[in-house]
Amino acid sequence: MFQRFGLKSLPRAIYCVPKKNFVTHETVTQKEFAKSAQLFYDVVSKRGDKLLTPLLQATGLKPGDNRQILDIACGPGITTIALAKQNSKGKTTGLDITHEMLKIGEKNAFEKEKLPKTSIEFMQGNVEQMPFNDESFHLVCSRAGFHHFVNQQKVKTLNVVLEEMYRVTKSKGKIVIQDIVSQSDKGNHTPELRVRQLHNAIQQLRDPSHHWSFGENEMIEGLKKAQFKDAQVVLKFEEDKTVELWISQTGFKDERNALLIVLKELCDLKVDTCMNLRYNANNELVFSHNYCIWTAQKP
Ligand SMILES: C[S@@+](CC[C@H](N)C(=O)[O-])C[C@H]1O[C@@H](n2cnc3c(N)ncnc32)[C@H](O)[C@@H]1O
Repeated sequence: MFQRFGLKSLPRAIYCVPKKNFVTHETVTQKEFAKSAQLFYDVVSKRGDKLLTPLLQATGLKPGDNRQILDIACGPGITTIALAKQNSKGKTTGLDITHEMLKIGEKNAFEKEKLPKTSIEFMQGNVEQMPFNDESFHLVCSRAGFHHFVNQQKVKTLNVVLEEMYRVTKSKGKIVIQDIVSQSDKGNHTPELRVRQLHNAIQQLRDPSHHWSFGENEMIEGLKKAQFKDAQVVLKFEEDKTVELWISQTGFKDERNALLIVLKELCDLKVDTCMNLRYNANNELVFSHNYCIWTAQKP
């Protein structure tokens, strides 16, 4: 069902797109990220260290390490390559469902960074059913992936994916997850469900492959349920950006610009959207993305 990504792999349509004639979340995700792959890479690689450094620190990796590492929903491989550079004596694998993302990762790893093929590889596959044996990795990471994970019945697959992560992690191995979280505009308390539903609906209008931003504790509970121990939040941080830039990063700016009008209205009405909407000195609508990093160990 899954293929190692590379020139000899089958066309993705053969093994990734279900034969039935309906649109699945999998195909929505692939369509979104196929269109925005290069744009996503350009924007996120420029933001660079602010998002990457905390994740690398949370892994505890040291230069010259020799581990088996997996980066799930690796996208264009920004994190995968950063992990592989630290893990220079080991092997780092990036897994993602979108072919166009993986192509950028391969190009950067082998042509730009000149990493050896023995140290990094990219594979196409779904995180719900990873193409790896049990206990394969010392470290399993995920950045900005969990808010997309949902099955064909639109049920979030937090538990399925965490159980898969648990399965492929070696005993005493570690997992590190970084993602955007829903946090109320009115402070640090857990926002009520309705506010979080509004927050996620806004994100879905901007990117239909978005499903659900987990709260800090929701993820901790999921990690415990999957039998991980020492589940904890190691860092929370914010990143501010204009709503216009955020929408344009999808590659569907013209189609989705109506969202800007809706968000301006919600801001003026002071509705809690979990986004801390406000205007900057140039009268542009800005908001805060709240990030969280969780770590846990396999016993
Ligand atoms: C926002 S991007 C993050 C990419 C990368 N981790 C980063 O931080 O630069 C989300 C990625 O998740 C991938 N993705 C979404 N659902 C997936 C699934 N079920 N299995 C594998 N990859 C998935 C998408 O293809 C996309 O590349």
